[in-house]
Amino acid sequence: MVLYKKDMQEKSRLPIVDRQALRYEEMAAEALTNSIEHLNHAYRQKLCGAEGAVEFRDGGVYTYDNHGKRYLDCLGGYGIFNVGHRHPRVIEAVRNQLDQVCLHSQDLLNPWAAELAAKLADVAPGKLKYSFFCNSGTEAVEGALKLARLYTGKTEIISTRNSYHGVSMGALSATGRDVFRKPFEPLLEGFVHVPFGDAAAIEAAITKKTAAVILEPIQGEGGIHVPPKGYLKKVRRITQKHGILLILDEVQTGMGRTGRMFACEHENVQPDIICLAKALGGGVMPIGAFMSTSKIWKVLEDNPTIHNSTFGGNPLACTAASATIDVLRDEHLPARATMMGNHFMRRLTQLMRRYPEYVAEVRGKGLLIGLEFQTTEIREAVQVELFHRGVLVAATLNANRTIRIEPPLIITEAQINFMVDTLESILIDIAAKKVKVKKRKAKKD
Ligand SMILES: Cc1ncc(COP(=O)(O)O)c(C=O)c1O
Repeated sequence: MVLYKKDMQEKSRLPIVDRQALRYEEMAAEALTNSIEHLNHAYRQKLCGAEGAVEFRDGGVYTYDNHGKRYLDCLGGYGIFNVGHRHPRVIEAVRNQLDQVCLHSQDLLNPWAAELAAKLADVAPGKLKYSFFCNSGTEAVEGALKLARLYTGKTEIISTRNSYHGVSMGALSATGRDVFRKPFEPLLEGFVHVPFGDAAAIEAAITKKTAAVILEPIQGEGGIHVPPKGYLKKVRRITQKHGILLILDEVQTGMGRTGRMFACEHENVQPDIICLAKALGGGVMPIGAFMSTSKIWKVLEDNPTIHNSTFGGNPLACTAASATIDVLRDEHLPARATMMGNHFMRRLTQLMRRYPEYVAEVRGKGLLIGLEFQTTEIREAVQVELFHRGVLVAATLNANRTIRIEPPLIITEAQINFMVDTLESILIDIAAKKVKVKKRKAKKD
């Protein structure tokens, strides 16, 4: 039996569903024991485990645990909840789909995949017209790399340091962070990594064998790094000049997150291949996609199954994605991301000026925001305390001092104010030593 640090009967944690009340503690104990015994022993260290906080239900911008405690979701499931948790239109579309066809026969025409591909062609930049559907961001990147090699007949890919493109062997070869790469080396040959934001470094790395450049328009897991203005445009010009492809990995920046449907639209750049996933499924179904132009897609015509996926394009996921695109457009969520993002950044920047001993930098675009602390230990203390005070955030995978702020795009000004006020109350408590910051030798990111 696992013991929890927090008193589970705290008055503020009112149960939501009475008939479940008797099972709350049991549920938490079971979830933790099974997680430790059958998912990963590391769950022993996770805060949610120690607190006995089990995900119980969600809606809008909130997640609720088994005690009925509400968390303002400023993490957004690492960027999947752009339209909010359980958006009614996405849920209804999937419910109806469940009553019709769930997974496809693979033989008859699949109208749901076809409709989604048409919708994506309508919203995607430039001549991107054809889509291949898969189940994750990693798979989208993997497919994009294969398409680039197939089309160009070349093998080398230029990527950037500190980038994150996923964990399969191809996507990992593009990923630019040793902590993920080293244990699995040797990875695929022909991948080079140059500093992010430096277009000249890309040009210098091009050889006769270069097939493509792969970039995130804003490095997400790298710590929410926005490149200098004009970077993408320069890279586009360079790739065109040398006849190589530009793959934009918009797995995290896509679907309205940065204030446009796709982040490359800020610079009016049209990639040759774009990778999508995360928020595409509306926070209801997993789906990934890579898209390209008719000219490039021709190489897939002779043998359309040369790259394939059994579950890719399944009706449930495609229906969810189609409904998600409708919601993003009808509710003007990309524009809302800009408005709310500006408010968030303004408030966080004021906070940074008041607490420079704790907050090092605020950066981002739209509602993809990175909040960098002076040390990893401060970041950890703030994150734990935000959790206690009902706000979810997380560190970025490649940058330990940075908290990512990626709430649903439907977040309101009042909710943003609540988050920043809560954050400030924590910094005040840290200064007053009411909240402890662990004393460890500061690690470099
Ligand atoms: C830019 C980018 N590409 C690819 C991936 C991998 O996506 P997934 O975790 O769905 O495989 C991620 C995940 O964080 C990402 O941020």
